[in-house]
Amino acid sequence: MAMLWAIALQLRALGNTLAPTPNFQPLPPPRFYHNGYLLVSSNGGLNQMRSGICDMVTIARFLNVTLIVPQLDNTSFWNDYSQFSDIFDIDYFINSFRDEVRILKDLPLALKRKVEAENLYSMPPISWSNMTYYYDVILPRFQTFGVVHFHKTDARLANNGIPEEVQKFRCRVNYQALRFAPAIEELAKKIVRILREKGPFLVLHLRYEMDMIAFSGCNEGCDNQEVDDLTKMRYAYPWWKEKEIDGVAKRKAGLCPLTPEETALILTALGIDHNMQVYIAAGDIYGGEKRLSTLRLAYPNLVKKETLLPPEDLSPFQNHSNQMAALDYYVAVQSDIFVPTNGGNMAKVVKGHRRYLGYKRSVILDRKVVVELIDAYKYGKISWDEFVHRQELKITSSFIPQKPETLLNVAKRRKDLPHHPSAKRQGATSISKYTSQALTPLLPRFRYSMLNEMVILLCKIKSAWNFQYTYTQAQAA
Ligand SMILES: *[C@@H]1O[C@H](CO)[C@@H](O)[C@H](O)[C@H]1NC(C)=O
Ligand SMILES: *[C@@H]1O[C@H](CO)[C@@H](O)[C@H](O)[C@H]1NC(C)=O
Ligand SMILES: *[C@@H]1O[C@H](CO)[C@@H](O)[C@H](O)[C@H]1NC(C)=O
Ligand SMILES: *[C@@H]1O[C@H](CO)[C@@H](O)[C@H](O)[C@H]1NC(C)=O
Repeated sequence: MAMLWAIALQLRALGNTLAPTPNFQPLPPPRFYHNGYLLVSSNGGLNQMRSGICDMVTIARFLNVTLIVPQLDNTSFWNDYSQFSDIFDIDYFINSFRDEVRILKDLPLALKRKVEAENLYSMPPISWSNMTYYYDVILPRFQTFGVVHFHKTDARLANNGIPEEVQKFRCRVNYQALRFAPAIEELAKKIVRILREKGPFLVLHLRYEMDMIAFSGCNEGCDNQEVDDLTKMRYAYPWWKEKEIDGVAKRKAGLCPLTPEETALILTALGIDHNMQVYIAAGDIYGGEKRLSTLRLAYPNLVKKETLLPPEDLSPFQNHSNQMAALDYYVAVQSDIFVPTNGGNMAKVVKGHRRYLGYKRSVILDRKVVVELIDAYKYGKISWDEFVHRQELKITSSFIPQKPETLLNVAKRRKDLPHHPSAKRQGATSISKYTSQALTPLLPRFRYSMLNEMVILLCKIKSAWNFQYTYTQAQAA
């Protein structure tokens, strides 16, 4: 106890503000390197900023400069004025790497005055640059100016074959140091608790929100009025550069978010039990209930934070889209299965986070293949016999097949679908047998003990339909 107290005193002497608690762990000594100060203004939505922040901490770490806690974007489309400490646990963030990178809440006063009196050196880092750029081009600027301001942070450092040491550090920032603010974590945990009480749950990042549909130009399933509204919206935002978009071609190329109807079909084809709780991690779905009805018919346990929580729980967060997104992020990371319908920042960061935590399953759909199959089905080139004869026919009402030629025939062309390991060699189990099982809506209720079977199922679907996926052993907690 005396020892603990001594350490506590020592830390206090170092200016540490954390109060000693019963399971108080001594923090590593803070690091002081003086190559300069990095100020950054993040840009984009929550997950783009999150990726950018990881890059910035990493750059500060390897350049030995002091990072000032990033300013978050308050001018973006999402109109959210939340600052860093509204979203992330700021003290935890600062202390996480105090032996590796120095992070301060603000510039030291003297420097702040100096920067205010003179001109702040401000620049955008060149996107996609590797560490060489930061050592050769940026480091000298710290030497010249002392303080450098990056007025955007989507530097995309991770995409450049950077050294493993750098990438590892980046992951630690993303998946360890960036913890949500206590108020957000608490409510997110409550959502997870409510879901868990009823069993396993799938988080669907249904990125079918108006901004996405408008700027991507993906109009599948929209009526003329809607297409008109979406096009107007696209033209109204000058920073959405692409204006003339061939939505049909884009969808065929696999570049559109899946629609709610397509998603219903795919989840069913994946063999996801229709009793499964499906949590929609997204803002307002474009077209509202009308567009969700197919998905809801297929998956009646369709929920979102607004339906799980009383309004008073959400109201402090409601007007802050980034805080709302943070709640969804947390739930998505915790889910049993994560399925994004689009390949954006959230899909990437959550998928990575789940992998980091021990390979929790994420189903990453190859949208080009998925859309091809859906169209073949929709235009009657293939049918869904098994499916069609059951009550769930209704869910495919927007995909009514014209000619009875089964989807199984398509599957049959690919021979190597093992039902058990030895089958592959013998070619014993036909794909049709397997596929008809996968497509049967009356799959047994999904239970934890079935997680492994689920993995096998996804494996098979992968080889049959060329789905990409990530998974390893079940990690049911
Ligand atoms: C940063 O500090 C470390 C440890 O002192 C040193 O090895 C490294 O060369 C420094 N890097 C730069 C860019 O100053
Ligand atoms: C937006 O952020 C900037 C920089 O942090 C700040 O000066 C400004 O007051 C903020 N605007 C609003 C509306 O919060
Ligand atoms: C970094 O990028 C530059 C310019 O694109 C390239 O010439 C260089 O080889 C890259 N360095 C590393 C270590 O990848
Ligand atoms: C959220 O914003 C709306 C409209 O801007 C306003 O009417 C409402 O009072 C705000 N709610 C909270 C909890 O601040």
